[in-house]
Amino acid sequence: MTSDSPISEADAANRLMRLAREIAQHNRAYHDADMPVISDAEYDALVRENAELERVFPHLVRSDSPSKLVGAPANSALTKVRHARPMLSLDNGFTDDDIAEFAQRVARFLKLDDASQTAFTAEPKIDGLSCSLRYEGRKLVQAATRGDGQVGEDVTANVRTIADIPQNLPDDAPDIFEIRGEIYMAKADFAALNAAQEAAGQKIFANPRNAAAGSLRQKDAAVTAARPLHFLVHGWGEVCALPADTQYGVMRAIAGWGFTVEPRLCRVVGVEAALSHYRSIESERADLPYDIDGVVYKVDRLDWQERLGFVARAPRWALAHKFPAERAQTTLEAIEIQVGRTGKLTPVGRLSPVNVGGVMVSNVTLHNRDEIARLGLRVGDRVVIQRAGDVIPQIVENLTRAAPRPPFAFPDHCPACHSEAVAEVGEVDVRCTGGLICVAQRYERLKHFVARGALDIEGLGEKSIAEFIALGWLAAPADIFRLHQHRAALLGREGWQQKSVDNLLAAIEAKRAPDAARLLFGLGIRHVGAVTARDLLKSFVTLSTLRQVATAAHDGDAAALAQLTAIDGVGPSVIAALGSFLHEPHNVALWDDLLGEVTPPPYIVAVRASAWNGKTIVFTGKLESISRDEAKAQAEMIGARAAGSVSAATDLLVAGPGAGSKLKKAQELGIEVVDEAEWAAIFAAARSD
Ligand code: IVH
Repeated sequence: MTSDSPISEADAANRLMRLAREIAQHNRAYHDADMPVISDAEYDALVRENAELERVFPHLVRSDSPSKLVGAPANSALTKVRHARPMLSLDNGFTDDDIAEFAQRVARFLKLDDASQTAFTAEPKIDGLSCSLRYEGRKLVQAATRGDGQVGEDVTANVRTIADIPQNLPDDAPDIFEIRGEIYMAKADFAALNAAQEAAGQKIFANPRNAAAGSLRQKDAAVTAARPLHFLVHGWGEVCALPADTQYGVMRAIAGWGFTVEPRLCRVVGVEAALSHYRSIESERADLPYDIDGVVYKVDRLDWQERLGFVARAPRWALAHKFPAERAQTTLEAIEIQVGRTGKLTPVGRLSPVNVGGVMVSNVTLHNRDEIARLGLRVGDRVVIQRAGDVIPQIVENLTRAAPRPPFAFPDHCPACHSEAVAEVGEVDVRCTGGLICVAQRYERLKHFVARGALDIEGLGEKSIAEFIALGWLAAPADIFRLHQHRAALLGREGWQQKSVDNLLAAIEAKRAPDAARLLFGLGIRHVGAVTARDLLKSFVTLSTLRQVATAAHDGDAAALAQLTAIDGVGPSVIAALGSFLHEPHNVALWDDLLGEVTPPPYIVAVRASAWNGKTIVFTGKLESISRDEAKAQAEMIGARAAGSVSAATDLLVAGPGAGSKLKKAQELGIEVVDEAEWAAIFAAARSD
């Protein structure tokens, strides 16, 4: 998967879309539930694959790319806080071209005539942890970490100990104002803290960012008070009024209230000026008292920010221009093969531990067989490791490539069950063919089946699954629902009291009528993640209909295939995966067995309040005041779907001047047609609903 790799751009785009979804699912499982459904190595491999594809196709980097996820998971020891407005992440750019493209995207979206005149703020990107400070009646009432962006941790008491953070706002400040910024530890303070920690035999922190996070996320605020933490403002959250109508103006006003704003924050007009400020900040980087990892540009005009809005986790109006990745050399000590839940054989490189940009790295995922071949890796080779921001470390170069030694022999049998391991046609991944007979897969598959995003069976954790597998009570999902037969035997086992056994069996019984989409996701069929499972069931309502259609499609029934293909987000790989899963007799047996134990009710999705929710809108003709992209974004903002063509399923046609065949068709079909001004009114009304 490199620049010399045969993967097409379309395939890469498709794969990136799927990776974004899949990794997001795993993040939720890990962060929200503390219950990952795949191994760390498998997770790393997905992230790495994403990063690698993004490196080769930088223009395909998605706004919701997992490589942009930041923030610590909300930790259960601290109270959770739901943010009044989500704490967003940032899209990344790496090259000058990325920045020019960002400016062009902005101009195109806003329909500006002259992209070169757009004003941005530019300021260092601080490598700390973001924090939202809520002031009500000009008093600090709450401080929260970013968490997953929606829910963070309450760190109010801790934050009150940070000298940079005012407890009160001045009288002219608005009544409700959330200040957002970065809590960090200066490099010198970090070094001193680690020296003191070491002397006291205490935990050493890997870098200033970890030290700041560890110091802030304390149950005991006295610990935070003893640590030298600082705060730099970079924005705001919920506010009842703003003191200016530009990013720069508001930042100046906030500085006037006694907060620290990064002194390099400035206003630049056009890309050239932005880049020149970037280079000036980059040249100062090493001498700055704190770690920075790039420069952030934000569209200065707030009315434009509002129009640009955001996609998934990141605003369209901002971009982080990251500094180049950090590299180090080390030795590849071993190549180990791990078997994941879906049977994928993932090679993991064990390294002589090496410090890369402040973090000790001792493992890298080698991704797949092709990656090992591409780099010509063999045990004992000297390699170059790269780490860019939050991206998982990767090997970027093999320094011993030319030395005459035999290549690494990738196994053709599963190290866990010894079944044959093969790569499907056109696929780089080698997979164990053992399915549920493979011990590695059985454990991982059952763990996945009961995990939070799937059946979510409380009390059936990894340890119990391993125990029940070892006892021979558990091999397939349906066996979970027969565990009650082992009640007496379980009661006799160490660690199981009447109460815990009763709770477990009750939690299992509570899932006899599970959500059909979760059940489907739980089966762990390739390419069928939680989102896809929901999409499929939204269309087919029951698992038996889905099975019928997917089987028919696999057997060459064109109508069935068309039905599947019509579903948004369902492509050839999903259809093929479903088909081959249902084609295997042992999977059909497993499915029947399971549906003999559980009865999922028909999958019917509740409709939300907005009148436009789920409606389909088509835009045609020339739009005068907004771009087509903005129009589509507006439709999505009010819960509707923007489609490209008119059909009986269309609910509204927005027609500008020059509308032709689509307008005619809509009129024939009796579909409501409005002009751009009417659309603006509809949009405004729906937003205020
Ligand atoms: S703006 C709406 N500005 O970087 C965008 N973020 O990678 C919100 N960060 O979560 C962020 N310095 O914690 C912004 N000057 C800066 C920043 C900055 C550091 C952090 C912030 C954010 C993360 C995104």
